[in-house]
Amino acid sequence: MPRNARLGPRPLEDERGNLALVLAAMTGLAGLAPSDVVTRRLERARALIPSLDLSHPDEQDPAWAALLDAVTVQETRFFRAASQLLDFRELCLPTLFEGRGGQPVKILSAGCATGEEAWSLALLASEAAQANSAPAPSVIGIDLCRHALAKAKVGKYPAGPPDALREVPTSYRQYFLQQGGDVLLPAHLHAMTQFMRANLLRLPAGLGQLDAICCRNVLIYLTDSARHEVLRGLVQHLAPGGALLLGATDSPPPKLGLRPWAADTVAIWRKDAR
Ligand SMILES: C[S@@+](CC[C@H](N)C(=O)[O-])C[C@H]1O[C@@H](n2cnc3c(N)ncnc32)[C@H](O)[C@@H]1O
Repeated sequence: MPRNARLGPRPLEDERGNLALVLAAMTGLAGLAPSDVVTRRLERARALIPSLDLSHPDEQDPAWAALLDAVTVQETRFFRAASQLLDFRELCLPTLFEGRGGQPVKILSAGCATGEEAWSLALLASEAAQANSAPAPSVIGIDLCRHALAKAKVGKYPAGPPDALREVPTSYRQYFLQQGGDVLLPAHLHAMTQFMRANLLRLPAGLGQLDAICCRNVLIYLTDSARHEVLRGLVQHLAPGGALLLGATDSPPPKLGLRPWAADTVAIWRKDAR
């Protein structure tokens, strides 16, 4: 297709073909599988389609960025799958602090949506760092969706209903600030947490080496080959001995040098030491 090939207004019978072309381009761009959810969202966002340059899908192009904002699914909550996060706190973090020999541990929330996962990791890790006399960790949240990232950066969430803190273990609730119907994160967590827009298929080199990566409820939206590519890229950024937290139903492809962190942990993997 020639460069700058845009889909102008088309008769109704061409619309299915247009949607199929855009879905295929989104798979190439962000790895998104043409699932029912994505297709429905794309149909709702069809007004955006005529502005797309189909010959050159690019997440930096405002038209493609708007489409990705519209079709991605941002469902998340604080301390989602709390028992896995508590295992991470108990079993992984002390080992990671030890391995860093006094340097801050670096944690990535890959596909952070509106930020609740990154803030939960920051809260756990800062509390564990204090308990282990380790320096405050650094947490980075990355996502493709611009409006989700804007909310994540502000770190202010409606208290509910439904209760924004419904999955937060009681001992961690004290750290959330309440203000006029919202919950906010304390300043010390803001100081150690940052958010940036990035495509998991093309991770920025500046991400450097990470001690722990949490990529949960993201891979389920991707095609098989994109899933493998994303995992390969993430594991390349993981330090030897680092921890990878996936969703309970995700299994990493073989030959990435990962093994279960412990016999009874769910979806926590450890990268082999060199
Ligand atoms: C359902 S949310 C998961 C949020 C959080 N990890 C959790 O488990 O609660 C999935 C997120 O993945 C993001 N995402 C999907 N594909 C992506 C890609 N290729 N690059 C970056 N983010 C992506 C979406 O924008 C969305 O915010």
